[in-house]
Amino acid sequence: MVYALDMKTAAAKQAVTVAGLRARKGGVPIVCLTAYTALMAKLLDEHVDILLVGDSVGMVLYGMETTLGVTLEMMIAHGSAVRRGAERALVIVDMPFGSYQESSQAAFRSCSQVMKKTGAAGVKLEGGADMAETIRFLTRRGIPVMGHVGLMPQSVNIAGGYRSHGKEAKDARRILGDAKAVAKAGAFAIVIEGTVEPLAREITKAVPVPTIGIGASPACDGQILVTEDIIGLFSEFTPRFVKRYAELDQQISAAAEAYAGDVRAGRFPGPEHCFGVNKKPAKKKG
Ligand code: KIV
Repeated sequence: MVYALDMKTAAAKQAVTVAGLRARKGGVPIVCLTAYTALMAKLLDEHVDILLVGDSVGMVLYGMETTLGVTLEMMIAHGSAVRRGAERALVIVDMPFGSYQESSQAAFRSCSQVMKKTGAAGVKLEGGADMAETIRFLTRRGIPVMGHVGLMPQSVNIAGGYRSHGKEAKDARRILGDAKAVAKAGAFAIVIEGTVEPLAREITKAVPVPTIGIGASPACDGQILVTEDIIGLFSEFTPRFVKRYAELDQQISAAAEAYAGDVRAGRFPGPEHCFGVNKKPAKKKG
């Protein structure tokens, strides 16, 4: 009995691998969330298959307006932190804008830095057919790559903003071609962002690797969302595809308000929070 329980715990704890993840195409939906810190990685680890250190860190933690200002150094620092907090989930680090687009060689230099310094299992990069050659170059040299097609936040200035894709036949054909090219180049999974359901379904059917949707319907093999969005910590902008499971912003604000009230009224710190102070009230004499 105890042995059976141990086996169950061991199986639950078994680390997710790139090969194992790839083999889950068409199976139980793959669960992914973003994480930027060791603390968050620790909290999420047992519940998810992939922890993505997204370049959304720039907007969520640093208050940037887009992801374009995120640097390789920032991704390495956050990737290392998440890796330290994760035991079981596959840790994938987003490659920031400007670190991989110039050439396959430049991409290899940036990605190998990320792999070496963070201990992540792989990288994610945005791009379709135009990035296929680079993805092939990286995967043939030992770097597992997750693709990202559809709405690509790093191309927001070219694409004309954050809008859904694939309603028009020409747009849908291009994105389908992008996904096929990325899969053929060796990506082990592909994020599909902000596309209409019929296109997400067609891509998922057409590629042999798992598709992970964000605003791309349940037709994908898995789902990803930004953690701060689902726990109600990032309220600057809530896309329609986000479901909120908690309202932590209100709880944090209420906690800070209560603390401020206690400090101002002299209720905190109490004797139980102090060193060298008698915790029991002194007995009255006589
Ligand atoms: O940067 C990010 O968080 C992403 C997502 C797919 C959520 O790329």
